[in-house]
Amino acid sequence: MAGTNPYIEKVDAPPAKCHFKVTFKPCGTVFEVDPSRIPYNRTGLPGSILDLAEGAGVEIDHACGGVAACSTCHVIVHKGLESCSKATDDEQDMLDEARGVTMESRLACQCVPDGSVDLVVEIPAWSRNLVREAH
Ligand code: FES
Repeated sequence: MAGTNPYIEKVDAPPAKCHFKVTFKPCGTVFEVDPSRIPYNRTGLPGSILDLAEGAGVEIDHACGGVAACSTCHVIVHKGLESCSKATDDEQDMLDEARGVTMESRLACQCVPDGSVDLVVEIPAWSRNLVREAH
């Protein structure tokens, strides 16, 4: 599922224009982001952590399809948060519904890094999608 949410403030977050790396924890996958391939998928904002995770083959739950209407894509950005788009009030409202929120928490579908630094992103246990569909 993909699309936009007409009930929230539009997010002004241009995707990265340079190469950078995202390390996903706890799986340890290190993904080299190629800005020419953004968007990697159709879920979340282009170049968002959710989009990059999809490109990396790392599963993050995203029940609403990446339109900031749930909190299942909650992640914790341990490094590189300063390079990410600012959370809107709508994102903050949704994060209030998430479990285990920290000062570094974001919705993966709304958090767009600018590529100026590498990121370390933790996917909390409750946001990992352990179900894979056969292709
Ligand atoms: S996938 Fe629902 S808020 Fe990100």
